Amino acid sequence: MQPTDPRTQIKHRLDSLVAAGVEFLPASSPVAIRSETLPETIPPPAALLHEPAPTSSTPPVDSRKSLALLANDVASCNKCPELFSTRTQTVFGVGNPTPEIVFVGEAPGGDEDRQGEPFVGKAGQLLNRIIEKAGLTRDEIYICNVLKCRPPNNRKPHADECRNCRPFLDRQIELLAPKVILCLGGVAANNLLGNTTGITKLRGQLYDYNGVPLVCTYHPSYLLRAEGTPDERKLKFECWDDVKLMLKQVGRTVPG
Ligand code: URA
Ligand code: URA
Repeated sequence: MQPTDPRTQIKHRLDSLVAAGVEFLPASSPVAIRSETLPETIPPPAALLHEPAPTSSTPPVDSRKSLALLANDVASCNKCPELFSTRTQTVFGVGNPTPEIVFVGEAPGGDEDRQGEPFVGKAGQLLNRIIEKAGLTRDEIYICNVLKCRPPNNRKPHADECRNCRPFLDRQIELLAPKVILCLGGVAANNLLGNTTGITKLRGQLYDYNGVPLVCTYHPSYLLRAEGTPDERKLKFECWDDVKLMLKQVGRTVPG
């Protein structure tokens, strides 16, 4: 179900940009809506109206600006007809535009599609506990997915959808320039490593993605499905080992 009301479309677009950490729009940003269909008044979020005054803790504006342009491109993407016609909005990514650590998941689910932010549903709640236990915050890292649109009924991403979305992900990671990447689950791992190996085999080791150290671990949804089964303890221990391996890459001391 695609919203046809231009106001709703614009609001979703702006909400997803705000969720992606965008604080202003470049003046030349292309707008794919004809002027005669524009509503008379569009209340843009205040955050999009001005650039923040630079302070010593403000990240270089260029990375933010380039991410804003990219998020805007993603929001108007129609390369995957099924995803384009069923999404509420694109889910670009969220967090620090100059992070040391980037988490890459699979694709938005229903909650993410509604809110425009990755990992805000049940899997996100477990991910938040992992982030907290690792001594990190969602604000200091960056979180995104292989796919920027929700696959209908949360089905697995198709190979052609991953291929279509890949230039966005590659550019996003290039702009973020992290010191380490954590792949959450097999889809992220297989896409970034270019293989079809199972996550159980891939986890626990260091890889290289375009010069950036990369660690793979289980998807939080997989850990949730294991809860109450005999595998739960083992899988959670292994996930914690992977998180510690990731933290080591950025010189973080690992909480007990
Ligand atoms: N699962 C994912 O892989 N990503 C999300 O954003 C939410 C759930
Ligand atoms: N399959 C995945 O994609 N991820 C897991 O963590 C486990 C199985």
